[in-house]
Amino acid sequence: MYVCICNRYRECEIRDLAAGGAKSPEEAYSVLGSGPRCGRCLPFARQVMDEAAAAETVPR
Ligand code: FES
Repeated sequence: MYVCICNRYRECEIRDLAAGGAKSPEEAYSVLGSGPRCGRCLPFARQVMDEAAAAETVPR
């Protein structure tokens, strides 16, 4: 699924970057090559990143 339509960033890309330590959608997007454009994706991107970060802190 796409998180960011403007930049065609996928949920899996955003999740991987959050698991790797990215702290914000802006940081993740800059790693992927381009920052936010319209900004409509940012609330969902934050949710995806929060979920990924929470999953990383759960003991396995
Ligand atoms: S949908 Fe992500 S910047 Fe527009």
